[in-house]
Amino acid sequence: MPIVTSKEMFEKAYAGGYAIGAFNVNNMEIVQGITEAAKEVNAPLILQVSAGARKYANHTYLMKLIEAAVSETGLPICVHLDHGDTFELCKSCIDGGFTSVMIDGSHLPFEENIRLTRQVVDYAHPRGVVVEGELGRLAGIEDAVNVSEQEAAFTDPAQVEEFVERTGVDSLAIAIGTSHGAFKFKGEPRLRFDILEEVQKRLPGFPIVLHGASSVIPEYVEMINRYGGNMAGAKGVPEEMLRKAASMAVCKINIDSDLRLAMTATIRKYLAENPSHFDPRQYLGPARNAIKELVKHKIIHVLGCDGKA
Ligand code: G3H
Ligand code: 13P
Ligand code: ZN
Repeated sequence: MPIVTSKEMFEKAYAGGYAIGAFNVNNMEIVQGITEAAKEVNAPLILQVSAGARKYANHTYLMKLIEAAVSETGLPICVHLDHGDTFELCKSCIDGGFTSVMIDGSHLPFEENIRLTRQVVDYAHPRGVVVEGELGRLAGIEDAVNVSEQEAAFTDPAQVEEFVERTGVDSLAIAIGTSHGAFKFKGEPRLRFDILEEVQKRLPGFPIVLHGASSVIPEYVEMINRYGGNMAGAKGVPEEMLRKAASMAVCKINIDSDLRLAMTATIRKYLAENPSHFDPRQYLGPARNAIKELVKHKIIHVLGCDGKA
């Protein structure tokens, strides 16, 4: 099985009422933990690479790690650029073998977002690469200082048909109240399912993407706090909300922070309990295993894409 696009994955996910996990990768242990989990439960996968990941690990190293995972697992794996911010970055990833790119023009005025996104689509499609666009801005809890500003950041359903039609994107990320990182909500977690419903009504059958979808699993937050860290107030998206989104038009659910928390908590615990150990394999091995268990949990209990590869 070669590296694939997300086209067929999304068609099946939409029809089946489940979602594909898009997990961020930065090094070998993360790639191995995620792909070993997916293999065990026979799940399709999107591995996504941010500009920061490319800078940290180098495009070729990440690509080769993913190619190794494809040949080890035999799974359909899509390689996706997460949050591409320029045409040049998207072009470089397309030329370098990615099968999917995100062009994130969500911070731009509507017309400029359309222009930039269309430019990427025009380069990607003739090369067999699919494109994710974004409308609406994901706000951090500190970003949205008052209700009207928060309201303005959500995706406006009235814009989605025109955006999709004029850009030709293959999927669309929308803002319904999630945000990146480990501190997503000050009070009770709340997502605007009414906006998702309206978008789904206006774009029947079209795959929607949810960014900022880590649950910030309390077990790992507590472990970090117990072993010298401080993540007081960390809060993520409850799993039942993600399951609901997956049963609707959301076909791609982005998860990075949960991987970071699992890895960091495990390494902190290991080093606290084994203060004289200094072989990186001794703490990276358990960290890789924690990622594997976390991803299996997500696939089976949140995404519902086990057995769908
Ligand atoms: O949405 C952002 C992802 O979590 C990637 O984060 O830019 O620090 O690699 P990064
Ligand atoms: P989290 O920070 O919630 O894991 O979101 C990741 C993401 O959206 C990557 O694009
Ligand atoms: Zn994101």
